[in-house]
Amino acid sequence: MTKVSSVRSAEGKLGILLVGLGAVSTTTIAGIIAVRKGLAKPIGSLTEMGTIRLGKRTEGRTPTIRDFVPLARYDQLVFGAWDLFNENCYEAAKTAGVLEPALLDQIKDELSAIKPMPAVFDRQYVKRLDGPNVKKGKNKKDLANQLIADIRKFKAENGCDRLVMLWCGSTEVFLVESDVHKSMAAFEKGLEASDPAIPSSMIYAYAAISEGIPYANAAPNLSADVPALMELAQKTGSPLVGKDLKTGQTLMKTIIAPGLKARLLGIDGWYSTNILGNRDGEVLDDPESFKTKEESKKSVLDYILQPNLYPDLYKDLHHVVRINYYKPRGDAKEGWDNIDLVGWLGYKMQLKINFLCRDSILAAPIVADVALFLDLAHRAGMSGIQEWLSFYFKSPMHAPGLYPEHDLFIQLMKLKNTLRYMQGEELITHLGREYYD
Ligand SMILES: NC(=O)c1ccc[n+]([C@@H]2O[C@H](COP(=O)([O-])OP(=O)(O)OC[C@H]3O[C@@H](n4cnc5c(N)ncnc54)[C@H](O)[C@@H]3O)[C@@H](O)[C@H]2O)c1
Repeated sequence: MTKVSSVRSAEGKLGILLVGLGAVSTTTIAGIIAVRKGLAKPIGSLTEMGTIRLGKRTEGRTPTIRDFVPLARYDQLVFGAWDLFNENCYEAAKTAGVLEPALLDQIKDELSAIKPMPAVFDRQYVKRLDGPNVKKGKNKKDLANQLIADIRKFKAENGCDRLVMLWCGSTEVFLVESDVHKSMAAFEKGLEASDPAIPSSMIYAYAAISEGIPYANAAPNLSADVPALMELAQKTGSPLVGKDLKTGQTLMKTIIAPGLKARLLGIDGWYSTNILGNRDGEVLDDPESFKTKEESKKSVLDYILQPNLYPDLYKDLHHVVRINYYKPRGDAKEGWDNIDLVGWLGYKMQLKINFLCRDSILAAPIVADVALFLDLAHRAGMSGIQEWLSFYFKSPMHAPGLYPEHDLFIQLMKLKNTLRYMQGEELITHLGREYYD
């Protein structure tokens, strides 16, 4: 196979712009700096620890992914952020309470130097928050222009060669696609008129995409996943990906459900409940923000189990998802799943999962990987939706008319085959006839 696209070199500085300097962002930044200093290992990161098999099983070629594709290295990264609170990254990490002070104190200088730029924020979209570090503008277009000015200033001041932007802000209220999202012309008018169907996250997405910067959405709210912004991304060459990082309970769901389906075990019901006490949990305590999250979490099973193809097994599945804000737990989320299974001749069984996880510890390696892979995609000339990064998301963005792929194992195969494709290596189909012929 010949190389499909020549991937531009990863040399130079890559600026990672994070919208929201909360638990996920601070854990990502602090983690990358700690790894850079040799204080900890990047566990959970495919770009740093993953390998990829090339050629036949008999060839013994299994390089690390970072040696196989030209990815930016952690020591080439610089960080910028926006938040409605003034705390610098060190203070924000302390507030988030995810990482031990003993670790944070060893990287205090680097973290303290990262100060949030004033946010584009409107309480209409995140009802439980309010803060002092917020931009004022005559309309949404003006706010977008202020973000573009921030982006350009950050790039120049930090000597960046390239940038990526990730929305790691709070989950905004549930919105559906409307007329203003249908074309770029309508969207531009909507910005001028401060149309309420354009939430803050979309203004950031617009600013990034206008500048040809890759954009990812770590949260479930509607953001770059509207026709207008996809149209703009095709024009400016921005790769896009989202939505909603696949951590915790949904990660487990997309590991377990494909296994149960593979063995054709029926499922009558799947009841999922969580307690968590971080700021994300507080925001999700608002029913409108929770609805956005619920939609994202619930769609997963339908697509994996395909009740239309397997009505005897999954047609009547009762799927319930609950999130309860419970302060004492902070970021240490606890999830319970009860799965009512049906086996041979209709006999009932139950499976219980109790996952005592750490939300941001699971999210940080995803944010780091997505930033590096989006930058790679950009250098490979890939724009628009990056479906090969579905692996990392609960509600993967996908082309209109196509159903999303949620099975974690298919997603990983797709991701690795995309890397092989970029580098002109044979795709691996797992057919394996050649070993027996
Ligand atoms: N941690 C996980 O496992 C996980 C998984 C999937 C999705 N997410 C999503 O990622 C997002 C971040 O999670 P978190 O735990 O860091 O939450 P967090 O509440 O700790 O941080 C979010 C930050 O975003 C800021 N913010 C909100 N609106 C903003 C705006 N318009 N501009 C700039 N800053 C803004 C808030 O002030 C806050 O500091 C949430 O939407 C969450 O639902 C997290």
